[in-house]
Amino acid sequence: MPDLTAARGTLRLPAQVHFGYGCRAQLPDIVAAYGRRVLVVTDPFLAATPQITAVTDSLCSAGLEVRTYSDVTAELPVGTLDAAATVARAHRAETILAIGGGSVLDAAKLIALLLAHDGPLSRYYGENLVPGPVVPVVAVPTTAGTGSEVTPVAVVSDPGRALKVGISSPFLVPAAAVVDPELTLGAPRGVTAFSGIDALVHAAESYTARSLDTDWSLPPPVFTGRNVLAQPIALQAAGHLGPWLPVAVREPSHRRARHQVALGALLGGVAFGSTGTHLCHAIQYPVGALTKTPHGLGTGLLLPYVLDTLRADPGVAERIADLGAALEHIPASEASAARTVARVAEINRTIGVPATLAEIGVGREQLSRMAELALKSARLLAIAPVEPDRDLLLDVIGRAHAGVLDERTAA
Ligand SMILES: NC(=O)c1ccc[n+]([C@@H]2O[C@H](COP(=O)([O-])OP(=O)(O)OC[C@H]3O[C@@H](n4cnc5c(N)ncnc54)[C@H](O)[C@@H]3O)[C@@H](O)[C@H]2O)c1
Ligand SMILES: [Fe+2]
Repeated sequence: MPDLTAARGTLRLPAQVHFGYGCRAQLPDIVAAYGRRVLVVTDPFLAATPQITAVTDSLCSAGLEVRTYSDVTAELPVGTLDAAATVARAHRAETILAIGGGSVLDAAKLIALLLAHDGPLSRYYGENLVPGPVVPVVAVPTTAGTGSEVTPVAVVSDPGRALKVGISSPFLVPAAAVVDPELTLGAPRGVTAFSGIDALVHAAESYTARSLDTDWSLPPPVFTGRNVLAQPIALQAAGHLGPWLPVAVREPSHRRARHQVALGALLGGVAFGSTGTHLCHAIQYPVGALTKTPHGLGTGLLLPYVLDTLRADPGVAERIADLGAALEHIPASEASAARTVARVAEINRTIGVPATLAEIGVGREQLSRMAELALKSARLLAIAPVEPDRDLLLDVIGRAHAGVLDERTAA
């Protein structure tokens, strides 16, 4: 008899999630339901594109009072969010429409937080520190990967901290998510590859998360660990991404590939937004800080090495094999954890994710410091499926540096 006390499930999602080519046509009605004074949050490049101007025009035509804030900058320095909140307050925004990549969606969540609760944002760093509901956010991704349109987390950089820092709270889950693959058609190759592989990491880490102890007399944690409601969704995400991410990177205007990758990314977000992520994300924080490389480049680079290490545990190996079966659309009898690792490494090669930490400029002498910094991500490490001590982290990081996968995987 399996341990049913560990078979828990919690999903926290936007009240409405729409997916499909053309679904952005719903935006005026969806946004109007939350208020008439709207702050559109986007970035300087996207603000000038015809798709985004068409969306803002459609809101104005529907009689909404629209102000656009387009100064979202990469890495989201906290100071820029205070400035954005000042603009939002001056407009007396009742709702926020966020259109952009993960950076824009995260910015919007934090502006919504600052509109409802006193700053500074540093008061809310960590988990479950947001005291109540925030201004409703309608989230419209233009990249396929982060899943931020459905997740309870936003990540910022703070000049006072060595690593980027997360604010996680169920109150940060957007009110509505509108995922229209058409908006991702223009995303450049690198953005498609790195945000897409991050979605696969979300699915993989969600599916392999450890079971946490459940005490239903307490509010469930923001990130639940293994979660029976999220598991099938994580596998589904892998099934959409596996065959189609390489096609979307190779042929950016392939409509079916963009549809599949956007769907996989959304489902990956649903899965990890409830479960959480673990080792690749904990190690990416120091990798990103040191090399200034995109989030998904780091998580994607690390994924084969993390899975290769984890498969030493027979229980986790089974789950990694399940993931591979979903990824490759093969029967369970043909799948194995080693084959999954090899397939993930092959996807990385095909889409241009660098194979090693050495390739992105990390020096040998930096590896132990990286392990120390990764150990600080206690929230993430708590749901890793094996004990994530310093030795384990150093092993993953060392192998990712040198490009060493187990021989059985290479064979
Ligand atoms: N909150 C979450 O759940 C979550 C999860 C994963 C990552 N993140 C965060 O998301 C950020 C990364 O997001 P991202 O990968 O979406 O990239 P991004 O938002 O940083 O955008 C990268 C670049 O792509 C451009 N771009 C976006 N969409 C485009 C389009 N359709 N056409 C042309 N150019 C386009 C942007 O203008 C920008 O220059 C990181 O800050 C990371 O920490 C958040
Ligand atoms: Fe991620």
